[in-house]
Amino acid sequence: MAAAPLSREVLGAHFHNPVLLAAGTAGFGRELAGVMNLDRLGGIVTKAVSREPRAGNRAPRVAEFPGGMLNSVGLANPGLARVLEEALPWLRQNLRKARVVVNVVGFTAEDFGVVVEGLEGVTGIAALEINLSCPNTSAGGLEFGADPASVTRVISLCRAKTRLPLFAKLSPALLPVGVLATRKVVERTGGIPVIGVGGIRTADDARQYLKAGAALVAIGTAALANPRLPEQVVADLERYGG
Ligand SMILES: Cc1cc2nc3c(=O)[nH]c(=O)nc-3n(C[C@H](O)[C@H](O)[C@H](O)COP(=O)(O)O)c2cc1C
Repeated sequence: MAAAPLSREVLGAHFHNPVLLAAGTAGFGRELAGVMNLDRLGGIVTKAVSREPRAGNRAPRVAEFPGGMLNSVGLANPGLARVLEEALPWLRQNLRKARVVVNVVGFTAEDFGVVVEGLEGVTGIAALEINLSCPNTSAGGLEFGADPASVTRVISLCRAKTRLPLFAKLSPALLPVGVLATRKVVERTGGIPVIGVGGIRTADDARQYLKAGAALVAIGTAALANPRLPEQVVADLERYGG
């Protein structure tokens, strides 16, 4: 049987379409059960997972303005142990088609390594997304992604701890900047799989990333404003074959 036009194999995992929910905007999936049909999507990127639980910042954590939304959640999450005990089993039991990408955070390179090692061998994880926007406490709080040497160190350390595919998450988050960054990365690496994220509000926005060479796209803020949007984007891409 011919493959459905929107399906794709990315780093060894089968995604039945390229649309994901972006990290931190969909919790661990359970929060959205009954709000949207997660299996209509290609997958979900989980909330950040850190080695210890994090309460995050005090409210207010988000502020809407006419151009979008600012957030300062502070990477609140239940921590590795509870994610292994509760969140990942729920995803395994409840998702049939959507793939799970786990977002990993740390404040030292070693933190990332501990979480990645803890997730190694766990079934139901398609890939890990390493959040390089975190402040590196060993470098005065400079974000890991701002320093190529720190990126190399974190990704090499994570690579040594797992056989799972790794996505290195860098932070240009506005649509035109993100699309340009996607094109540059895909061209300069000869086609490394990229998740295009930042500023997607319509199917045409998603198409911009896909045309720039993104293998997958992720929707964040726009899905918080309209939980039906990700499914609408999938339906639109299906209707026009991409
Ligand atoms: C409320 C909220 C929480 C987020 N939490 C995380 C997170 O835990 N880890 C991460 O890598 N990105 C996190 N992000 C960033 C999103 O995954 C995404 O990269 C960013 O919002 C840009 O995409 P958008 O323009 O579609 O929102 C968060 C974003 C929002 C709005």
